Amino acid sequence: MRRIDYKLIEDLVPDEATVLDLACGDGELLAELVREKRVRGSGVDISREAVEACVAKGLSVFHGDLDEGLADFGDASHDVVILSLSLQQLRRPRMIVREMVRVVKHGGRVALMDWDFETVAVTHPDRELTRRLLHWRCDHHSGDNWSGRRLLGYALAAGLRDLTVIPVTIVARDEAAALTGSMFRAAEVVRDGGAITPAEHDAWVGELKRQLTEGQFMASITYFIVRGRR
Ligand SMILES: C[S@@+](CC[C@H](N)C(=O)[O-])C[C@H]1O[C@@H](n2cnc3c(N)ncnc32)[C@H](O)[C@@H]1O
Repeated sequence: MRRIDYKLIEDLVPDEATVLDLACGDGELLAELVREKRVRGSGVDISREAVEACVAKGLSVFHGDLDEGLADFGDASHDVVILSLSLQQLRRPRMIVREMVRVVKHGGRVALMDWDFETVAVTHPDRELTRRLLHWRCDHHSGDNWSGRRLLGYALAAGLRDLTVIPVTIVARDEAAALTGSMFRAAEVVRDGGAITPAEHDAWVGELKRQLTEGQFMASITYFIVRGRR
């Protein structure tokens, strides 16, 4: 099952549009747009395995590094340009959003989507430990974890108009949820980074496991979608 609901992006895409999906991963969104809306879709990703997976699905996806820009794509060449769950990893987010605006047609649509790790809510009796752990994970691991809240600024700086900001909060309540696994991985990363002790790690994780066993566990995170028009 999908962790993310892409409907708020899919809604932007007219039937038979030309769509460019940047950092498209395994091409799930692109494949759906081709199937449901008969779009002429193409994509870019830095992962050779991701590109191969897309090509195996019959998608027109190219290997490329977004930090190098979009030199292979012409000005005003697409109706919709999408960048989902990847800006956090990029070294030059402002540059790539400007490039997205360059390659979208005048009046065309741009959609940005990203997590904001600082919005994680999880309950635990030790607030100080929980804050130390989550803040350290947010500030020191896996790129810019404030990326979600920065999307509007990137869009404004790139000159997009008719902007809307949509926050979406997902909730995890069981072991199988991706966010639950992410909480356990966060605890490991922070322990390995030295910001909590192994004993603190075990106590924090032990409490979450107790909550899971007793059906009391709840974690949430918000991601943001910013949609605009050139
Ligand atoms: C979390 S996945 C998101 C995939 C998809 N956009 C989605 O919403 O599910 C992040 C993707 O960004 C790609 N990526 C990371 N850095 C990149 C870069 N510099 N240039 C192009 N793709 C990149 C990764 O290979 C990966 O496929």
